[in-house]
Amino acid sequence: MFFLVAEIFARRQPGSRNLSACRCYTSTQMLMSEFARAMLVVLLQLSVSVWLGGYVTIAIVACVSRETLEAEARVRFFRLLGRAFLPVGAVALACGLLSGGLLLAARPWDGLATAAFILAFALIVTLAVAVGQARRLTRLRQAALEGGADTGAIRRGAAGAAALRALLGVLSLALVVLGSLLGS
Ligand code: HEM
Repeated sequence: MFFLVAEIFARRQPGSRNLSACRCYTSTQMLMSEFARAMLVVLLQLSVSVWLGGYVTIAIVACVSRETLEAEARVRFFRLLGRAFLPVGAVALACGLLSGGLLLAARPWDGLATAAFILAFALIVTLAVAVGQARRLTRLRQAALEGGADTGAIRRGAAGAAALRALLGVLSLALVVLGSLLGS
């Protein structure tokens, strides 16, 4: 990773283009720099695929499970699914933000870059809040199954969780759009 960070900042020196003795060295440097950039783009694309693919898959699974699973099995299923996907999604998100951030740092800073930074920060905060909310909701649903039902709290919790999940999706898409604009 250190190698990648060093290479992405590697720049051809002004004037070196005219020195034939340096041409070989600088073109190698450019090649390495291009290589590092390509690796970061690959990492970014893989990370976005895992993050968005996971998001869409969980949404589809949520719909299908409503029709196929009993309440108790559904609560248990999502407790395990959510906990299993969290480390995978979080690592994908971290890799995406890291590679995107390094690519961003290698270009001039402007308004679009600031917007991407704010969106990335909002996405991290929203994910933390959404996970906390989902865990509270799972506990409430579990309590309801055991007889201590507070249907009003579950309804409010479910509405909050749905809003947070929608916000996660919107922020993720906005970041992809902004990233594409920054990269083009
Ligand atoms: C992509 C990012 C997501 C992550 C990291 C994530 C993670 C989690 C976690 C950690 C839990 C709590 C499990 C526990 O009880 O400990 C959970 C619960 C749940 N998640 Fe997700 N989730 C994500 C997206 C989604 C999406 C897009 C949906 C559906 C539209 C969804 C539906 C649910 C449901 C139904 C629960 C059970 C709580 C409830 O009844 O609302 N999740 N998730």
